[in-house]
Amino acid sequence: MRTARLTIDPAFTIGPVDRRLFGSFVEHLGRCVYGGIYEPGHPEADPLGLRRDVLALTRELGVSVVRYPGGNFVSGYRWEDGVGPVGDRPHRLDLAWKTVEPNTFGLDEFLAWATAAQVEPMMAVNLGTRGVQEACDLLEYANHPGGTRLSDLRRAHGAEQPYGIRLWCLGNELDGPWQVGHKTAEEYGRLAAETARAMKLIDPSVSLVACGSSGRGMPTFASWEATVLEHTYEHVDFISAHSYYDPSDGDRASLLASAVDMDNFITEVVATADHVAARLRQTRKLKISFDEWNVWYQSRVQGDLDGRGWVEAPALLEDEYTAVDAVVVGDLLITLLRHADRVGVAAQAQLANVIAPIRTRTGGPAWRQSIFHPFALTARYARGTVLRTEPVAPTHPTKRYGDVPVLDTVALHDEESGELTVFAVNRGTDDLPLDLDLRGLSGLHPVQHLSLAAGDDPEAVNTEAEPDRVTPRELPTGTVDGDRCAVRLPAVSWNVLRFAPLH
Ligand code: AHR
Repeated sequence: MRTARLTIDPAFTIGPVDRRLFGSFVEHLGRCVYGGIYEPGHPEADPLGLRRDVLALTRELGVSVVRYPGGNFVSGYRWEDGVGPVGDRPHRLDLAWKTVEPNTFGLDEFLAWATAAQVEPMMAVNLGTRGVQEACDLLEYANHPGGTRLSDLRRAHGAEQPYGIRLWCLGNELDGPWQVGHKTAEEYGRLAAETARAMKLIDPSVSLVACGSSGRGMPTFASWEATVLEHTYEHVDFISAHSYYDPSDGDRASLLASAVDMDNFITEVVATADHVAARLRQTRKLKISFDEWNVWYQSRVQGDLDGRGWVEAPALLEDEYTAVDAVVVGDLLITLLRHADRVGVAAQAQLANVIAPIRTRTGGPAWRQSIFHPFALTARYARGTVLRTEPVAPTHPTKRYGDVPVLDTVALHDEESGELTVFAVNRGTDDLPLDLDLRGLSGLHPVQHLSLAAGDDPEAVNTEAEPDRVTPRELPTGTVDGDRCAVRLPAVSWNVLRFAPLH
């Protein structure tokens, strides 16, 4: 059996972890809002109709920032429909998901939910069917203190103080032909730049995200980013990236190597942004907002949409995640952390029911899907500074990505507590002995090894009847010899290795 090696030295750093990497996403899609985070009349609902059980799971998940209200939904959305007396709000057709939107949940309810969930809101404006004026109106409603028509409207609706929303997305996936209001890079770039300039006149403290590609496989990928950034570079703070990984073809080795694709995607977006910066003589480095990522059984979507009339909150995209999917999600988080110097925001899509770590039954309980666990533990233990490591590991072949290392890792050093945490994935179907060289961190001893292993039961899922079938287990910590520590990573597993100073 071949051993992998990892040398960890706190002198070699990538950068501090931004808590905004642990973001999530709430879209008006299926039962994410209605029957997910919001369900008046549910036994767990608070007076506003927010589900307390889902709020508790959201806090346990460790989510830092939540993007809202879409997604494809936002590209046809009129934000004004979702504010004011609920009885006066219109029902509308949502063309993105072919449903009826009742608008009983809107901006003010979302902000109340975000406060209760202890998360930062990240708003998207509609640049599909709407433009500069409507984006400015929304910002005035949300962030202007008072004394104008829209800020006073917010106050009349009960929010005396401005919401102070800092993060704003300039539309959603406008490179995608499926998007209502789809645009060329040239059209979108100009619109995004004009919208950004106007929004910063209203509130210079906002941080703006220009739409990048909705996937690395898009035919316009990279040229889209280059053109959009030629127009927007000086006005925006982030360029977005979206990526989903579909297990449907059953090619497990390739699925387990999804992080290789995400890693390449980030490197290529960074290269493109830096190229534009060089052309424009800009010295400020642009960051990525990786604001949609996850495992998603995308091939099932059409079945969800076909043969259904216009209804409210149907069950859509309610993927049930396996133990293998959880290992992949853990590995995608490792990748985001390893790029902490250039990825400043990330949001897993989505939070509840729709391709989500939290599942609910309308009128029934809420439970944790398998993918809940790597997210929650990464958000809890990824503290301090990401270290640069050079793992040496055996490789194995995959159809989609060629030969890939069986080991993927990231290490973090928390200067305050002195603790070191290593997140490690073994993509291989055999146990992997890992030899850690902790030079420069002598005096640390292993305190915990948590492992979510999919080797024995790769297709295991958590259900309402069996909500804890897939959970991380405690394994014996590694054996220490001087500065070295030997551990064993189970076949197809995601692991947290924690080390603390000896007192
Ligand atoms: O998250 C589901 C959908 O995926 C979003 O609405 C869209 O932005 C993306 O294509």
